[in-house]
Amino acid sequence: MEAAVKEEISIEDEAVDKKNFKDCSKIAFYRRQKQQLSKKSTYQALLDSVTADKDSTRFQIINEATKIPLSAEVYGIEGDIFRLKINEEAPLKPRYEVPDVLTSKPSTVRLISCSGDADSLVLAYGKGDLKFHVTANPFKIDLVSAEEVVMSINSLGQLYFEHLQIPPKQSYQRKNENDVPVDTSQEYQQDLGLWEEKFRKFVDIKPNGPASIGLDFSLHGFEHLYGIPQHAESHKLKNTGDGDAYRLYNLDVYGYKIHDKMGVYGSVPYLIAHKLGRTVGIFWLNASETLVEINTEPAVESTPTQMDSVVNKQDVKSQTDVRWMSESGIIDVFLLTGPTPSDVFRQYSHLTGTQAMPPLFSLGYHQCRWNYEDEQDVKAVDAGFDEYDIPYDVMWLDIEHTNGKRYFTWDKKRFPNPKRLQELLRSKKRKLVVISDPHIKIDPNYALYAKAKEQGFFVRNHEGGDFEGICWPGLSSYLDFTNPKVREWYSGLFAFPVYQGSTDILFIWNDMNEPSVFRGPEQTMQKNAIHHGNWEHRELHNIYGFYQQMATAEGLIQRSKGKERPFVLTRSFFAGSQKYGAVWTGDNRSKWSYLKISIPMLLTLSITGISFCGADVGGFIGNPEAELLVRWYQAGAYQPFFRGHATKNTKRREPWLFGEEYTRLIREAIRARYTLLPYWYSLFYHAHVASEPVMRPLWVEFPDDLETFDVEDEYMLGSALLVHPVTQPKATIVDVFLPGSNEIWYDSKTFSHWEGACTVMIPVTLDTIPVFQRGGSVIPVKTTVGKAAGWMTDSPYGLWVALSTKGSAEGELYLDDGHSFQYLHKKQFLHRKFSFCSGVLINSCANESAHYPSKCVVEQILVLGFRKQPSSITTYSSDGKEQTVAFTYCAKTSSLSLEKLSLNIGTDWEVHIK
Ligand code: GLC
Repeated sequence: MEAAVKEEISIEDEAVDKKNFKDCSKIAFYRRQKQQLSKKSTYQALLDSVTADKDSTRFQIINEATKIPLSAEVYGIEGDIFRLKINEEAPLKPRYEVPDVLTSKPSTVRLISCSGDADSLVLAYGKGDLKFHVTANPFKIDLVSAEEVVMSINSLGQLYFEHLQIPPKQSYQRKNENDVPVDTSQEYQQDLGLWEEKFRKFVDIKPNGPASIGLDFSLHGFEHLYGIPQHAESHKLKNTGDGDAYRLYNLDVYGYKIHDKMGVYGSVPYLIAHKLGRTVGIFWLNASETLVEINTEPAVESTPTQMDSVVNKQDVKSQTDVRWMSESGIIDVFLLTGPTPSDVFRQYSHLTGTQAMPPLFSLGYHQCRWNYEDEQDVKAVDAGFDEYDIPYDVMWLDIEHTNGKRYFTWDKKRFPNPKRLQELLRSKKRKLVVISDPHIKIDPNYALYAKAKEQGFFVRNHEGGDFEGICWPGLSSYLDFTNPKVREWYSGLFAFPVYQGSTDILFIWNDMNEPSVFRGPEQTMQKNAIHHGNWEHRELHNIYGFYQQMATAEGLIQRSKGKERPFVLTRSFFAGSQKYGAVWTGDNRSKWSYLKISIPMLLTLSITGISFCGADVGGFIGNPEAELLVRWYQAGAYQPFFRGHATKNTKRREPWLFGEEYTRLIREAIRARYTLLPYWYSLFYHAHVASEPVMRPLWVEFPDDLETFDVEDEYMLGSALLVHPVTQPKATIVDVFLPGSNEIWYDSKTFSHWEGACTVMIPVTLDTIPVFQRGGSVIPVKTTVGKAAGWMTDSPYGLWVALSTKGSAEGELYLDDGHSFQYLHKKQFLHRKFSFCSGVLINSCANESAHYPSKCVVEQILVLGFRKQPSSITTYSSDGKEQTVAFTYCAKTSSLSLEKLSLNIGTDWEVHIK
């Protein structure tokens, strides 16, 4: 088996062989939907069948050709959300409805029916500003907001629903793929894959037959759509054209191709459309293979002819049509009506949950490699960080730390005493992350395997035996995380007495959980494998990885008896994965183009709920030249999850291996990250409680500024920092767009300032990271950086105050113990508010009911944009103390600096500048 695995690895440096993956033409349900829709059958809503209860309104829809009824249910959900479910009225057997993604049963709002008309049904939400307007024949729905039709459903007549059928007798009695003759004839090429579907050497036998669904949405006046990760593509979704679609199918694509719509590791079937004055979302809750077609028709402004008066001039509004297609399940779609980007974020997290509050250490820098060889190696790398004075928080161990890729075990030769190693890291206030994949080596002597086998905890093949596939350990079976019992058992494996050699500084990385199956169809599991409840893998493929991370996070919480926050990184994910930890963008390459695409990929994850995301710094595959590595560290320092990682057989690339100058540059980048830790942590608190993405595309902060809608080479961190990473080799100048006509922006290093709504040419050298602070903001920072986040608990704060055009600024700080749930259960946290107005900076409490003792002081205050030399500065603390303080003022940069202060961060005080 080892040989087979090696063979898989040896292909690593070659480009992705796209033949191993399907394009639309190889996907039978896509071909079927295309063929059927060219025939145009229509659906009609039977509005005399309407019934309503307190939760929903139901009616039937009937296909004119087949006469088979569908049942439609419309729900109003708290927070201005509509839900539309369409299922067969009487399916042969139940169709899969995705469980466990919605945080709880969404609280419904009664919709008021307000139409007497036989041809239409109008359901009004709340006060009636939002209406769901159903037209009977042909069946169509309009979402109306304040008399404007925002979105129409099925207005293109593309509702598609394959009814479950009894298999035709003679032709499909085969039970085994070996019975199927290899057929390369033309007949096969046209095959619609109803009961079986062939791809390369694989035959997918479908005992339930065809079950595909689809629906179209027309977004009126919208030209900008974002979302549906994960693709190595631009942030703004592109038109899909003929035979092309964004694919949502979780796949392990080593060194994935960029600017491609093929599905990679995870899927969030949720998109956001934005135009001036309105943002809306469509969340398509389906976990089977899904395709999304997008077609934007831009606005056409008719040039008035001589005949036309200007008054008669007719503009054709832009429109984007979106068509969702899934292989199976039901239509279950949520319409998030906005109207602002933050409303849509709130609506989505109301359904799927917010970003988990990460432990503070996990916002520091992570050092990973496949593999750190042994205890000596780890010790040497750890010591290297101290020797070169570079902070880091977490050491990572990849698959080789185990005994033959048996997760939850240790390679006794390499890591004879894992606890000793963890004690060393603990003494440096650092942590360890180890990998735990979902495939389990088939080895009766491996206790975990034997136990899982005995209890029937593996996914089964369609013949009823345990599914077997090849992955890192060789032949393996795959834990069925869709089964709550398996999750409970798996969570229990993290208990300290069970997981030998683990301590409370050990955290987890879930990888290969698409799931990756070497030599499987498209390197994943056969769709007819069977899960808990007898559901086929095809129904739930995209949610498999979600469940593993869920069980792992739960396990880490349980091992601490509910006290400690977990940290779990996952490669595969689904809608709602944000509740369980962090996500990274998988096996990227050490190329400038991959550094560049990391920005739109992370922006897309961020707006679809997953704030804690990152890309392998340096690029996983290949050997980055020193300049690329430095630029990647500089970018990564300003992205939420910050981890250096490299594949096997690459040259070692710890930060100090490229000579003094490069070491310095990397050190500076990592230190810049640690300086900003209080700001990062406060942003994550906001993501956690208020659903605000940490990393934001410019359009989110400037929704009324058309010029921001296409920007993806720069972004905001929170609302105060604009970052434009350098992603070109040998750059000497970077064009930075500074948005907002009423804004003022300050270069965070030089303090130069510009008014917004312009593009500025910023000269750069290798140590420049173009970062700009927005006028009107206050950013909390740490004034000294320690070996790791844990060393900085008591270190002083600084405040960067950047004044707006009006001379004011505001900001916040969130602070707690950094690791426990006390912030939640006991309200043990500090939430401070800083405001600057008319020369007075005030530190006040933003949440009176919360408490957290902190000895920390604010030591420095930097005020940018202060136009005149002050004559005196006095501080006033709440205990009545009054003190004059020293300052330096630089007229050239209009910057004022107050040093050696000693103002407690957690108490009220004021600084008066005269
Ligand atoms: C996968 C992961 C990569 C990891 C490797 C070995 O390729 O994406 O990060 O290092 O497996 O576990």
